[in-house]
Amino acid sequence: MDPEEFLEDDEPTLRPQTLDEFVGQEDLKKQLRIFVEAARRRQEALDHVLLAGPPGLGKTSLCRILAGEMGVDIKITSGPTLERAGDMAAILTSLEEGDFLFIDEIHRLNRAIEEVLYPAMEDFAMDIVLGQGPSARTIRMDVPRFTLVGATTRTGLITSPLRDRFGFSSRLDYYAPEDLKQLIERNARILGIQTDEAGARQLAERSRGTPRIANRLLRRVRDYAEVVADGVIDEETANAALQMQGVDTLGLDRVDREYLGLVIDKFDGGPVGLGTISVALGEARDTVEDVYEPYLLQSGLIQRTSRGRVATRRAYTHLGLPEPGGGREG
Ligand SMILES: Nc1ncnc2c1ncn2[C@@H]1O[C@H](COP(=O)(O)OP(=O)(O)O)[C@@H](O)[C@H]1O
Ligand SMILES: [Mg+2]
Repeated sequence: MDPEEFLEDDEPTLRPQTLDEFVGQEDLKKQLRIFVEAARRRQEALDHVLLAGPPGLGKTSLCRILAGEMGVDIKITSGPTLERAGDMAAILTSLEEGDFLFIDEIHRLNRAIEEVLYPAMEDFAMDIVLGQGPSARTIRMDVPRFTLVGATTRTGLITSPLRDRFGFSSRLDYYAPEDLKQLIERNARILGIQTDEAGARQLAERSRGTPRIANRLLRRVRDYAEVVADGVIDEETANAALQMQGVDTLGLDRVDREYLGLVIDKFDGGPVGLGTISVALGEARDTVEDVYEPYLLQSGLIQRTSRGRVATRRAYTHLGLPEPGGGREG
């Protein structure tokens, strides 16, 4: 689990409770409103929902919001914690009609668990094997009509039989600075923090397009503003505090810059393989691929090629380094 989720529990007020409080993602919200309203009118459980996208963009929040709008309870579990088919069966039988079952990191479910899920998702039934050997027989048990909400940082890793069983599937993208600015201004009001327009914009532009990071930076900059400045987050205070946090003008943190420095200094700008990069950074391969690379790719600082990762011209410029050989593709 993301360690920040513990932190967030200390300030539950920042978690959006309704679709209206959920900033940005306008197209997705429009679709979800219709989807929820239709299910409510038919008095049916919501169809299964798959939410994909990098950490901190609002997958868990959306699941809670949808359950709230439907007025149902949520059972929460995650791919890696479900080991045996029996674990899944136990959860399924504990659900009430209409409940949400949230499976985080659903791309990490094992085969046996997926096999139990298919008939549960499709026919609201579960096949149980009784006995062993030649006398074994299978009985089919009903499962309450529930809504499976799957969250994943990697749609590519979900098997197609599983993916095909979701009636609604969407990918969350990094947020535009204007959306994050709105989020920061709203949350500053909730926490009783004073910001001015330019201060909020600085925070928004340097939050890696990620609401979770925006909230974290807001708290850290508040500390700084209270202790070092006069309590107001203006542009100057925001800049000074962010610099102290090691967050640069593009919102890159220490690890992001270490990644770029590594590709450029040690590997001559690349191409270099993901495995080599993770070892050198001392970070798990999945973390590098799911947490660090999507933002570097989106910011146009690296490119993925068949032979490995390559630093772009923009990466050299951003780090204030001379471009190799007077310029490189990208
Ligand atoms: N669209 C949004 N509007 C407001 N707050 C958001 C939004 N998306 C995420 N957040 C905030 O960011 C935090 C992280 O979101 P979360 O739903 O846990 O992300 P994920 O499950 O995708 O990692 C939440 O606590 C919530 O406060
Ligand atoms: Mg989450």
